[in-house]
Amino acid sequence: MPITFEEKTKQFYISTDNTTYIIELLDGKIPVHRYWGNTLKNMPSIENTNADFNTIYCIENTENPSALSTGTLPLEYGIYGTGDMREPAVSVQLADGSFTLEPEYLSHKIYKGKRSINGLPSSYAVNDDATTLELTLADKASNINIILYYTVFEEYDIITRSTKIVNLSEKPIDIKRISSACVDFYDSSLEIVHLPGSWARERHIERSKPNHGIMRFDSKRGASGHCENPFIAMCEPNATETNGDVYAMNLVYSGNFEIVAELDPFNTLRTLIGINSFNFSWKLNPNEEFASPETVMTYSSKGFGDMSRNLHNFYRNRLCRGKYQHSARPVLINNWEATYFDFNEEKILAIAEKAKEVGIDMLVLDDGWFGKRNNDDSSLGDWYSNKEKLPNGLAGLGKKLNGLGMKFGVWFEPEMVSPDSDLYKIHPDWCIHIDGRTPHLGRNQLVLDLSRIEVCDYIIGFLTETLSNAPISYVKWDMNRYISDISSTELSHRYMLGLYSVLEAVTSKFPDVLFEGCAGGGGRFDPGMLYYFPQIWCSDDTDAVERLYIQYGTSFAYPTCTMGSHISACPNHQIGRTTPFSMRGNVAMSGQFGYELDLSTLTVDEIKTAKEQVAFYKAHRETIQFGDMFRLSSPFESNIASWQYISKDKNEVVAFFFTITGKANTLHKMIKLQGLETDCNYKCAENGKIYSGAYLMQFGLPAFQNADYISNIIVLKKEI
Ligand code: DGJ
Repeated sequence: MPITFEEKTKQFYISTDNTTYIIELLDGKIPVHRYWGNTLKNMPSIENTNADFNTIYCIENTENPSALSTGTLPLEYGIYGTGDMREPAVSVQLADGSFTLEPEYLSHKIYKGKRSINGLPSSYAVNDDATTLELTLADKASNINIILYYTVFEEYDIITRSTKIVNLSEKPIDIKRISSACVDFYDSSLEIVHLPGSWARERHIERSKPNHGIMRFDSKRGASGHCENPFIAMCEPNATETNGDVYAMNLVYSGNFEIVAELDPFNTLRTLIGINSFNFSWKLNPNEEFASPETVMTYSSKGFGDMSRNLHNFYRNRLCRGKYQHSARPVLINNWEATYFDFNEEKILAIAEKAKEVGIDMLVLDDGWFGKRNNDDSSLGDWYSNKEKLPNGLAGLGKKLNGLGMKFGVWFEPEMVSPDSDLYKIHPDWCIHIDGRTPHLGRNQLVLDLSRIEVCDYIIGFLTETLSNAPISYVKWDMNRYISDISSTELSHRYMLGLYSVLEAVTSKFPDVLFEGCAGGGGRFDPGMLYYFPQIWCSDDTDAVERLYIQYGTSFAYPTCTMGSHISACPNHQIGRTTPFSMRGNVAMSGQFGYELDLSTLTVDEIKTAKEQVAFYKAHRETIQFGDMFRLSSPFESNIASWQYISKDKNEVVAFFFTITGKANTLHKMIKLQGLETDCNYKCAENGKIYSGAYLMQFGLPAFQNADYISNIIVLKKEI
């Protein structure tokens, strides 16, 4: 059994194939965090460790002053009020105004499988391949229960956690903070890695050593946002891609989140992750319960590469769902950077014809097909075709595209309304606003209040109608502003619950449609969204060089099959850089491949290259989209970015090499491959050369550095 309870030591052992997580009930009452790391079958109970957990000046246990103090122990779920003065995992204001809880062990259940979290996205078990521990703590004085959930997915080396608060008292309470998970790393020298960024610069990698005190990464933007990601990794100071202890936590949530890391005076590093407690308060009436989002956690002693592969594998298999979860995704062309708002049916069909010639599977019609939208200042909410641009509507255009042998995809921004729209005229109160104040615009638009059921029904209604009446195989679901003008402490989370209910309804009504998430590029790239959308537009920055950083950083948590990535025109529209067509292709092929330019402007040579790119991608997309990814060289640390994929059957290797800026008079740099079989031979598809796995991993392949923007893909086949 992957979860056991030892009565004698009062310890819970939560075990994956390679790791163990241990909780001990101190005096049978208070859950203490004892261990998280490589498999450990026996842990002495806390009294038998000879360690000294008490310090001078701690708050004493009332019944037994010489007992260990919660102020210095590594706790499983830190609670303020009785001696633990660190950042609390939970904060609840009781009806009498006080905040103190003293939750102690009440009961536990261990069972096969996993329950879903009401109204929230979460990972799932298949054929009961997970085991769950529900650990119920009770605060007797207030009659508030806290339930800690742990689910272990043994073969994925993943443990998920979430928390529930149940109000069994007769009075309402206010939840001010509820962390999904809290981990106290005892005697820590760990460093912290997070993924900060901004619009067009999402998910860069930052690593630092925490000082004593509190570090905080969060979003108050109403979406997980461009500026932080709900991901954190703690690592040993010497951890690398291939070595060292790494602990990751990733929140399955797409709204305001917080990650708090506190290094206490005794060097315990407490990390909390959950809904943002900033301006948050949730009234819980008697007999009601509140469930936190889920946190996905993985540990590896083999560095960041193994950490990422654990998360990738888990997200592909136990978080993403639907028809496209495991099937190869189409190569698409999107008209956004080709035409922006300036298109009509004729122009779109011309792009499609050229795309068909190149071998592209699907055309995606982006923003501007509806209402009177010719720029970004009107019509969001008026989801009917603009007859001047599309005289035959979406249905007519879709039929013509299907006639060409192409699938049809359409852009929507369902959560928004333009003040200049019919919808706004009819329902001006449907936008998020504070009574008596004028709501603030972002990209000339307002946000619909998805905490209201009638607004959710309206969105489900127009999407159902549009997707039923036109041959639409793909939806790009965009969200182009953050949420301001919040009128209550519950609204931000209620918005997310509304959004998730809409996404559940629409994606289950249209199981054959491929949904791609988007939020001004990658402004809502998180595990919550991946539960509904198997892919997400990675960034509005389509520059090949910038994308090396963005995609490298994104891959820390998220698999390649989730990252939308397109070839666009040069000079690049976001940064003005000109990079070779081949490099743009090789970068875009390290993701969900597509094009986003006017193919009729390409040279004959470029069209030939495009045909080769599409054919190459189709031949190898199973390996790239669903194989194991190994990062070989970081653009954040060197001039060369490189990564590699190994197919699930381990027979094909596709390795990508990119040189960012060239240097005069240099030799090539050897890039060592990873994850191969030492004793097997691998044949290079391009030149027929045969290399041993040992050679490729110990000596490597050359990346040339004598010019800017060199890029290369090498395919190796295992000799069987
Ligand atoms: C932002 C997206 O990221 C772009 O790809 C494009 O769809 C625009 N919105 C359209 O307004």
